[in-house]
Amino acid sequence: EAELIHQFKGISFTTRSSPELLNSLDAFDAREDDVLLVSYPKSGTHWLAGVITKLYKTPVTLTNPIELGDMSKLEELNQLSSKRIIPTHLDYNMLPQNFKNKKCKMIYIIRNPKDIAVSMYHYYKENPNLPTVDTWTAFLDLFLEGDVVCGSWFDHFLSWEEHKNDKNILFLFYEDMKKNLPKTVKEISIFLGISISDEDIQDICKKSSFSEMKRDTEKENSDPSHTVCALTSNRKLIFRKGTVGDWKNHFTPKQNLRFDEVFNEKMKFSKMAKNLTY
Ligand code: PPS
Repeated sequence: EAELIHQFKGISFTTRSSPELLNSLDAFDAREDDVLLVSYPKSGTHWLAGVITKLYKTPVTLTNPIELGDMSKLEELNQLSSKRIIPTHLDYNMLPQNFKNKKCKMIYIIRNPKDIAVSMYHYYKENPNLPTVDTWTAFLDLFLEGDVVCGSWFDHFLSWEEHKNDKNILFLFYEDMKKNLPKTVKEISIFLGISISDEDIQDICKKSSFSEMKRDTEKENSDPSHTVCALTSNRKLIFRKGTVGDWKNHFTPKQNLRFDEVFNEKMKFSKMAKNLTY
């Protein structure tokens, strides 16, 4: 396990995000027109990335990141002439200062953390790059303690919620996307300043459905460069179920009570998290 995970500023990262790399983040050369796609793992990053890249009519590059961008490819990233869409799982505090100074547009996607825990559990089980977990119960403990990759969901969310009034950050909910994807696509297009027809929106939504995206994956090979998450050794692992409320098939009533207890305590000052754990 020690080979797979290391701690940096109290947060777990895979060894692919070495301390040197994480230390060098602040020197990252942000551009004003970079768009950051921010998420805690398993919140719907790939889904959102799929939608956003389809919105642009000019070439954009979706970088293949580690927790920020693949720093071994930093040079390549800097030479890119096209617009960059940069997915990241970093919390607000660890985000390179340049993105903040340049007021780059950022989209933060939020998902019910109970569903995230379940999604992450299955991911840990299937992914050879992550530590082995014994049982769901054991994993849930780790999740609640924040002892998982990218650290505590609670800390991650709170670090970003502090910036909920920043004009350059758009907050989206996975559950809203499930309920009404066209509405979210419209919202994103307005935020990014892209004009788009209703017909285009319908087309994007069709191509971004769970079944379509899963099918596309099955056509591709398992080249990790096709994923926006560097933890992913195989893109097929991403498209598991894609539903809201799968936590109900995993949590015992006791586990649910315990989760709610921790949630209510950690989120007591949070406005955005109020209706998140139904
Ligand atoms: S990662 O590894 O952090 O980048 O994973 P991420 O992409 O953030 O999240 C994976 C979960 O998102 C679901 N997903 C989707 N849901 C609905 N529609 C679409 N198109 C879609 N694409 C991905 C995916 O199934 C994972 O959730 P679970 O609950 O495990 O199925």
